[in-house]
Amino acid sequence: MQSLKEKIEQLKQEIAAVVPASADELEQYRIKFLGTKGIVKEIFGEMKNVPKELKKEAGQMLNGFKQAAEAKFEEYKYLQNSKAKKDDGIDKTLPGTPIAEGSRHPLRMVENQMVSILEKIGFSVATGPEIEDDWHNFTSLNMPEHHTARDMQDTFYVQQNPDWVLRTHSSSTQSRVMEQTKPPIRVICPGRVYRNETISARAHCFFHQIEGLYIDKNVSFADLKQTLYYFVKEMFGEHTKVRFRPSYFPFTEPSAEMDISCTVCGGSGCALCKKTGWVEILGCGMVHPNVLRNFDIDPDVYTGFAFGMGVERITQIKYQVNDLRLYSQNDVRFLKQFQPL
Ligand code: PHE
Repeated sequence: MQSLKEKIEQLKQEIAAVVPASADELEQYRIKFLGTKGIVKEIFGEMKNVPKELKKEAGQMLNGFKQAAEAKFEEYKYLQNSKAKKDDGIDKTLPGTPIAEGSRHPLRMVENQMVSILEKIGFSVATGPEIEDDWHNFTSLNMPEHHTARDMQDTFYVQQNPDWVLRTHSSSTQSRVMEQTKPPIRVICPGRVYRNETISARAHCFFHQIEGLYIDKNVSFADLKQTLYYFVKEMFGEHTKVRFRPSYFPFTEPSAEMDISCTVCGGSGCALCKKTGWVEILGCGMVHPNVLRNFDIDPDVYTGFAFGMGVERITQIKYQVNDLRLYSQNDVRFLKQFQPL
């Protein structure tokens, strides 16, 4: 009985080590262990030598062994159906078709860089919906119905609901933040915006902006300028010059547009700067008191600044991409030229 036990243990180990790699090998295994003259049969034959009082135990042991032998066969039975017979004429050593690795989209890389620069000086990221209502996109931002400034941005309206628009600027997220949080507020709002423009090299019906908003006691235009100086130096380098031009936005007063010295020609004049030496990168200003009042923020206590810039524009300046359409054509020949910043 003891020797039978040892024999079975040994055979079980042998079975465990079997890894058939083909239908042929599986068949060899089957014949050896499960065939009519196989090991399982043979070992069952030894039952007759087992003393009567041990027969029950021995029977259980043998059945367990048989099951293990059969389980192995079942496990590899699929080999019988596989076409991968040993000599199937397929050269398995041939190198496979390489799968091209993707890369980050240039706009996303630049957006990430812009966000991380501004995060370093305390701005945190806020997001909002791309389908906006009139209040958040226009009215709350000091652009009531029929205000002529609404014409500055050609708007897509949602057909099912005349109150809904595809947001025309990231300033709509400003409104949502002011609605939800009390000052001090220091956020940046990256996201996609939409305008009803004819698609060309210089205009697209959607693009990306990053909005900045800072509201606290005693925030001044000087704070706005310092923030933007810092941003420009980090983004375009120490020697980049900056200038502000007075401008108009309904939600800021005073308002300005900011230019940087052309990064391609350094100011001597080229196609990117249209021979002016300067390229415009953003709009900004001090948050209009009406906007603060719309969100129950007292303009006599709090002041704030806001700025909004286009990610495509910054990317274009950084990489000299002169056709906006390239960003959304998914052409890998274009996309794979961009290495992580
Ligand atoms: N929302 C403006 C635009 O899209 C940019 C802007 C943002 C201007 C914040 C001033 C302040 O053109």
